[in-house]
Amino acid sequence: MNKSSDAQRMEKIVSLCKRRGFIFQSSEIYGGLNGAWDYGPLGVELKRNLKNYWWRVMVHERDDIVGLDGAILTPPAVLKASGHVEGFSDPMVDCRSCKARLRADQVVEKKGVKQCPVCGGKDFTEPRAFNLMFKTRVGPVDPRWSGGAIFPMSPEGATGATGPVSPHVDVSRTRASTAGATVLSESHSVLAEDETAMAYLRPETAQSIFVQFKNVLDVSRKKLPFGIAQIGKAFRNEINPRNFTFRSREFEQMELEYFCRAEEGMKWLDYWLEERLKFYENIGIPRTKLHAHEIPDQERAFYSKGTYDIEFDFPFGRQELEGVAYRTDYDLQQHQKASGKPLEYFDEETKQRFIPHVVEPSAGVDRTVLALICEAYDEDTAPDEKGKLETRIVLRFHPRMAPVKCAVFPLLKNKEPLVAKAKEIVDLLRPHMNVFYDESGAIGRRYRRQDEIGTPFAVTVDFETLGEKDAALCDTVTLRDRDSMKQERVKISELIQLLFSRIA
Ligand code: GAP
Repeated sequence: MNKSSDAQRMEKIVSLCKRRGFIFQSSEIYGGLNGAWDYGPLGVELKRNLKNYWWRVMVHERDDIVGLDGAILTPPAVLKASGHVEGFSDPMVDCRSCKARLRADQVVEKKGVKQCPVCGGKDFTEPRAFNLMFKTRVGPVDPRWSGGAIFPMSPEGATGATGPVSPHVDVSRTRASTAGATVLSESHSVLAEDETAMAYLRPETAQSIFVQFKNVLDVSRKKLPFGIAQIGKAFRNEINPRNFTFRSREFEQMELEYFCRAEEGMKWLDYWLEERLKFYENIGIPRTKLHAHEIPDQERAFYSKGTYDIEFDFPFGRQELEGVAYRTDYDLQQHQKASGKPLEYFDEETKQRFIPHVVEPSAGVDRTVLALICEAYDEDTAPDEKGKLETRIVLRFHPRMAPVKCAVFPLLKNKEPLVAKAKEIVDLLRPHMNVFYDESGAIGRRYRRQDEIGTPFAVTVDFETLGEKDAALCDTVTLRDRDSMKQERVKISELIQLLFSRIA
């Protein structure tokens, strides 16, 4: 595909996501919040299927991995020890003409001169490190502050037009966000900072795993190698959120910290890279679209002995889905040093105490959801009610990931026995899978609506089901396959087993 058709494809995907209720812009009716997204009724099902499957293969189907659900609010001490307070930043410049804040590496040169992509201005501030973490306060705030709320201030507001302002707000530094709204960024410190009352929204789920390493080890009584897995929200004040949900400010991660002996670190790195590639294949992302990019020595974090990015061919280019990193014993060493608490592992056989090494496969939920949608999106042709070929939009999700597994239709909505039988089938399937009942419109239209949201199977109750035409067909239904559009006749009594075998 060429660039413009890739861009068109992406536009169609974004529009379908909104139209059918996969993904909405957050706070849309108020103009939206840049970098934040809400998942609609179908998006939330897709996301859950992904997270549940990750949990199933990473935790439930293994006996060397246990789970954790850590807090999002994180004290500064944790993130100082991990290096995030000092080093989790991007260099950033401000355009002096339009005040846009831009990542230094994204200011492109035109004819040898750097130009602002927003207004074309050529005058920029010196690059400054912009820490990507969101800060917040815990407990009571400064009593001089009206109601304790943070009021987003526009430049007009700064001159006294709106809302209360803390005496500490340096309004001259408010800035326009990329969404056009005006926000107080993390660097515009609202109160004189009191470290004890401060917390960060975690920028990754990993740190709570390291901090709880000893507790989890003690209660689970695992022997090396073993892992701790976590799925949860992470927050990064990205300078330029972009490519739909790809780079967001609020997102979810699925992370595993797999602890091992130092001499086995590289072995487990290779093992986890392969496991993770298999995972993507098992959710319907073909190996041909996945790339394991080995990060060269000079680009790796200084403590890592080996890192791969697993990349996917998105319509907007090849981009990272997941990082698989051998982080040595860096994190546990740092937390042991900073907290003064021992985080060692005791080897019963050798009677030695040591800090284990760790291999970390760290995947993004939202990026994988986006990859699933991009991979599933397809257009083909199918006959309409009159037999004329029309374009069919179809999401070819792997049945395991599909938000709705099976649709159930009575052939006609005004024939009570058909409706009653269809509802019986819904009741039969509902405890086992997400089903959708639809009786409105022509049957072809109903199939199309399900194709567009990726429902892999549709059951239709017709007059044969009632045994009106052929007694041998009584209590059978048609089962239609989304991809081939072929229909087969199956017994209602065999439906659940058949669907299970195809959904897995
Ligand atoms: N603990 C290691 C870690 O957090 P990372 O490469 O910064 O590593 C891991 O993040 C994964 O989290 C990425 O591969 C990506 O899938 C997801 N991720 C990171 N930043 C993101 C963002 N701004 N928006 C959406 N997903 C993001």
